[in-house]
Amino acid sequence: MQQAHLANILHFLSEPSASKEELSYEYFEKGLLVVEDGKVIALGHAEDLLETLPSGATVYDHKERLLLPGFIDTHVHFPQLEMIASPGSDLLHWLEQYAFVAEKKYADSDYASKQADKFLDELLRVGTTTAMVFGTVHADSVNSFFTSCKNRNLRMVCGKVMMDRNAPAFLQDTPQTSYDESKSLIETWHNKDRLRYAVTPRFAPTSSEHQLELAGQLLKEYPDVYLHTHLSETENEVAWVRKLYPKRDNYVDVYDKAGLLGSKSIFAHCIHLADNEWKRLAETNCGVAFCPTSNLFLGSGLFSMKKAKLFSVNVGLGTDVGGGTSLSLLQTANEAYKVLKLRNEQYSPLLGLYLATLGGAKTLDLENLIGNFIVGKEADFVIVNMSPTRLMENRLAECESLMEQLFVLTMLGDDRVVTQTWSGGVKVYDCTRNT
Ligand code: GUN
Ligand code: ZN
Repeated sequence: MQQAHLANILHFLSEPSASKEELSYEYFEKGLLVVEDGKVIALGHAEDLLETLPSGATVYDHKERLLLPGFIDTHVHFPQLEMIASPGSDLLHWLEQYAFVAEKKYADSDYASKQADKFLDELLRVGTTTAMVFGTVHADSVNSFFTSCKNRNLRMVCGKVMMDRNAPAFLQDTPQTSYDESKSLIETWHNKDRLRYAVTPRFAPTSSEHQLELAGQLLKEYPDVYLHTHLSETENEVAWVRKLYPKRDNYVDVYDKAGLLGSKSIFAHCIHLADNEWKRLAETNCGVAFCPTSNLFLGSGLFSMKKAKLFSVNVGLGTDVGGGTSLSLLQTANEAYKVLKLRNEQYSPLLGLYLATLGGAKTLDLENLIGNFIVGKEADFVIVNMSPTRLMENRLAECESLMEQLFVLTMLGDDRVVTQTWSGGVKVYDCTRNT
């Protein structure tokens, strides 16, 4: 049965760049998105498309609301939601003091299941329909997460943390157990419904060389499985990696020699990379998660979009909760603006919304399935109320262009603007029914 959504509709066709920004997106004032069997079958002006609908089609009139592709979070930790906003002196201190303490609780599978559901409720409430997610070292944390995703038919990527050193004993695995458990999770979950698996060594300091090699071995055995880890987030971490891996040329080389670079590899942060490291990420078609709220909160440094663009590396936005301070990709775009401002780099609302949608899909190598409303793609979208607060209503009244409105949306928008979230053509969140 067809369904059709009437709204102002915005999506991206390519990355907005200063020279051809107007070609990068389509905006349909009074547009219509037509969906069948969970997929987009048409997009256009309502006045053209309404008359083509079959008589049994259900029409949802979202009035003057904005309809956007579902947001894509390219880096987030589901077990860290409960310790979001914990102050650490720096990353390594914060990990020991808060992150590891929270993750310990996920040895209890019932607890992990409850938390996975809470996490997904929150993601959908902020309009995120796909995320690249860290579990904990416990295989069952990932079983719990995927079970909850499967029940809701969401498109999600997750993996069990591999961590065999420099962490509390209660959170360590071994190279062999991490290999065996990851393999078993891949067999169970990868490509099941809309789910994908990511081999997930936490970062180089918490994995032995042997463990990283076995991660590479898994990628050889399962070439379409993802690799998800952290890279060059803080200067102290980079110095530590140099000490731990004296034979490697640099941080990227540690992962490279283990066979971890490729088009399904996602590296969070990438703040302190040298040009030759960027070059190698580009050559191997890796994706990068820009996590501004986390980078500012933990004082890790300022990411450079300019570098990523110079080397043609795909970038998406990551919230990195609990290092990040919001699950909202709109709030993440807000902080991306500030980071780029401090770097004297360009931001536009189109860039912010592109990174939160199609840019994320490209980074996760899911562009053929999600990220915009090209016919055949999965119908994951968000219905946005541009003025849920008095402040936004007053500010929008002053706007003279769509660009100005979108800028305000990416600065002031958060969970309050999301009125509905749809995944695979099914409504999975409605602000009038959930709190
Ligand atoms: N590096 C290694 N582990 C983590 C983590 O949990 N969060 C962040 N932000 N960085 C990390
Ligand atoms: Zn992280």
